[in-house]
Amino acid sequence: MIQDKIVPAAEVDPIHYDRGIFFGDGVYEVMRSYDGKLFALDEHLRRFANSLSAIEITGLDIDEIRVRVLKAFDAAGIANAKIYFHVTRGSAPRDRGWDDNLKPNFFLNLSEVADNTEDRTKGIAVSTHPDWRWKRCDIKSLNLLANVLATTDAARKGCGEAILVDEAGLITEGAGSAFFAIRGQTLQTAPLTANILPSITREFTLKAAGNVGLQIVEESLTVEQAACADELMIASTTQDTVAVVKFDGKPVADGKPGKYAKLIAEEFRLFTA
Ligand code: PDD
Repeated sequence: MIQDKIVPAAEVDPIHYDRGIFFGDGVYEVMRSYDGKLFALDEHLRRFANSLSAIEITGLDIDEIRVRVLKAFDAAGIANAKIYFHVTRGSAPRDRGWDDNLKPNFFLNLSEVADNTEDRTKGIAVSTHPDWRWKRCDIKSLNLLANVLATTDAARKGCGEAILVDEAGLITEGAGSAFFAIRGQTLQTAPLTANILPSITREFTLKAAGNVGLQIVEESLTVEQAACADELMIASTTQDTVAVVKFDGKPVADGKPGKYAKLIAEEFRLFTA
């Protein structure tokens, strides 16, 4: 049965048997272009290859994925495009174990990147949420239920992002972004472990921060440290870097985007030109 209709088994579209739907058994990427130029394509493809290999999806050549991304990007003609793609292990009757001969399913969607000029100018509010995710957040897996619940909780509180906190009270990252604090002359962010996604924007943000004279400290922050930081920031492919001006309902410093957040954002834009 699909919705309220009885459908003979032989007529059910195999997409309804996609293991991505049954189990979140797949991996994805989100990348973007700036003014008609793809940004960090190699980095995204490398991370995608790592995600595929981590969950043992084989039989898909990463160069073929590159060809598909380029083909879709050319065909769409969107200058500032958000490019989403995923690969699932394939379609099969629901069984946790998989058959090595399954043919992976590929899906790609291109759209205009949402304009976040207002967030980038005024900064955003964030709220904390327990990090309920699994222990391999370094894999960009389709299992995003914990991220979805945290994001919705933040939105209900009028916040633009949820900041995830582990059982030890340490901040891992945002539900869809990397997270940073500026404390004195340092930019602090969680180290790359299995608990966070190796964010590509994070890498460029660290470079930008170094270029504006900040020292980089890759150490997890406690919620208390974040609450009294000089500045806070998030970063992701679709938003670049955005200052955080309110943390769990309290202003960050004077409640306005700080000096370094602005400098880093300007420096970051140079990488995208
Ligand atoms: N998300 N951490 C998490 C949990 C994320 O979902 C993302 C990005 C990031 C930032 O990674 P990057 O800089 O490589 O975009 C960090 C994408 C944009 C998404 O799921 O839509």
